[in-house]
Amino acid sequence: MGILIRQLVFATTVVMAVAAAPSSAASLVTFIFGDSLTEVGNNNFLQYSLARSDYPWYGIDYDGGQATGRFTNGRTIGDVISAKLGIPSPPPYLSVSKNVDALQGGVNYASGGAGILNETGLYFIQRLTFNDQIDLFKTTKETIKTKIGEGAANKLFNEAMYFIGIGSNDYVNNFLQPFLADGQQYTHDEFVELLVSTLDQQFSRLYQLGARKMVFHGLGPLGCIPSQRVKSKTGECLKRVNEWVLEFNSKAKNLVNSLNKRLPNAKFMFADTYQDVLDLIVAPATYGFKVSNTSCCNVDTTVGGLCLPNAKMCGNRKDYVFWDAFHPTDAANVVLADKFFSTLFSASPQAAPGPSHH
Ligand SMILES: *[C@@H]1O[C@H](CO)[C@@H](O)[C@H](O)[C@H]1NC(C)=O
Ligand SMILES: *[C@@H]1O[C@H](CO)[C@@H](O)[C@H](O)[C@H]1NC(C)=O
Repeated sequence: MGILIRQLVFATTVVMAVAAAPSSAASLVTFIFGDSLTEVGNNNFLQYSLARSDYPWYGIDYDGGQATGRFTNGRTIGDVISAKLGIPSPPPYLSVSKNVDALQGGVNYASGGAGILNETGLYFIQRLTFNDQIDLFKTTKETIKTKIGEGAANKLFNEAMYFIGIGSNDYVNNFLQPFLADGQQYTHDEFVELLVSTLDQQFSRLYQLGARKMVFHGLGPLGCIPSQRVKSKTGECLKRVNEWVLEFNSKAKNLVNSLNKRLPNAKFMFADTYQDVLDLIVAPATYGFKVSNTSCCNVDTTVGGLCLPNAKMCGNRKDYVFWDAFHPTDAANVVLADKFFSTLFSASPQAAPGPSHH
């Protein structure tokens, strides 16, 4: 309980720092790191990547109705949160890597198939691992420094917000795949230690590069995504997978807290979205959904699982929590982003004059 309250107070501090700053939302710069849950189109630029979503029916409910490289029918949670912060959703890094003005406004390095570990998602041939994304962030910093000078660049990077959502693929496309080495080589206790010690190095490196205000999203109940449910005879959530995820979240939260003590001026935050996602899956009707145990595209298999052009979509996409076997629908992302945002603001009434929500 004490930890929760500290976390909320802390979260409010971070959000107030961004939302209530005098120069305010217009100048808020965000850098986003992650996997297919947050990707906005980097993999479109990776010619040989097999982790892609640049074809129908992805994007059918996005502005314009075209596939963008987002792994959902519409907006990601990050898109919705950017809108709430009053800023455009940062573009994919690979679409603006030569454009210094665009880089200064914040970019998104997320890449489908990416994990905390280098080896995660190897079978997608090409993806930007978290380490690759941090390398690109370092390049970004050097590019901007050349243009605006070291002092201004340091200020920009210290004041920016960093959103990181990664780790799902280290389970779904690594540890939980029986034919890959990590699941055979490590017990879960060993694997989770490896993930968290790797994250420690990665977060520390981001800090050295200037990150101070960082939000790390914990994992959702991966045992309940359609691609995992099909492994149970009765279509239920895989309990053991959810227990592993909870263990990861708990250790990642401890890491974030210890980094805040270790690194001067670090304001890192662990955003626990596990329960919100689980609520949506367990009681979809409460949120206006009808189906949460299968995907709209009806592609629930342990391999593949993407919404290919030949998939038969559900009739009403707003009735479904899951779009494909891994990713939530636009409608679910809106609910989750709302919950995430109001959690941040609920801790302190003074935070009220932020972005409006109803
Ligand atoms: C992962 O890749 C990075 C390069 O991006 C390399 O520096 C690092 O040593 C690799 N880590 C491991 C454990 O192999
Ligand atoms: C999903 O849940 C519904 C109603 O609870 C049930 O009828 C259906 O068989 C389930 N589908 C799968 C794929 O488990």
